[in-house]
Amino acid sequence: MRIIEVESYEKLSALAADIIGAQVLLKPDCVLGLATGSSPLGTYSNLVKRYEAGLLDFSRVRTVNLDEYCGLKGDDPQSYRYFMDTNLFNKVNVNKENTNLPDGSAGDMEAESERYEALVEALGWPDLQLLGIGQNGHIGFNEPEDTFPTKVHTVKLTESTIKANSRLFDKPEDVPTHAITMGIGAIMKAKRVLLIAGADKAEIVERAFRGPVTPQVPASILQLHRDATVIFSRA
Ligand code: F6R
Repeated sequence: MRIIEVESYEKLSALAADIIGAQVLLKPDCVLGLATGSSPLGTYSNLVKRYEAGLLDFSRVRTVNLDEYCGLKGDDPQSYRYFMDTNLFNKVNVNKENTNLPDGSAGDMEAESERYEALVEALGWPDLQLLGIGQNGHIGFNEPEDTFPTKVHTVKLTESTIKANSRLFDKPEDVPTHAITMGIGAIMKAKRVLLIAGADKAEIVERAFRGPVTPQVPASILQLHRDATVIFSRA
């Protein structure tokens, strides 16, 4: 695994957009695995700038997002569908029908997990999976556990994740307690993985990528991925 250290969030975002942009140029109909949260905001705005400059064409790209909150509809401003639409999909020429997220408002979450797993498999797994990392080492919403969950599943978020997510909600009681997430299997089957982490993640980056591989630190599994790159920003 490659760990690239850069000095600023701006550099991290530009470099991550270089790598994703290269993927789109090399394979215009690639499957991009995407993430939400604060970390990729700069990456997405760099991709939008490159699209506006005529340097990137997303018309044949397919996308699969890692996760979604349970109980939120796609038009809820707190949903990950809404996040992706407003920060990336509405600003580039991706065909919305080719953008996929788990449906957090599905009545039967078990059936929805099976549907999403089958969809990601039918797309041939991501050519490139973008990831952030939680303070507890989660990737997607695969929280610390005794085993690595392989398939798409619903998860009860840990207190630390709920607390971290609460910064984006007006009232603490509005913060979702459950999410649906891709499992570790799909992430490990991605042909390339790109994880981005800012300085606030220094401690967990050290534990995950320089410590032992353990499901208690889910991101540590990436040490075994055949093509994983971590971009870490020191500031
Ligand atoms: C989001 C996701 C999460 C985040 C992680 C870091 O789709 O899968 O694993 O990547 O919680 O979030 P930020 O970037 O907000 O620190």
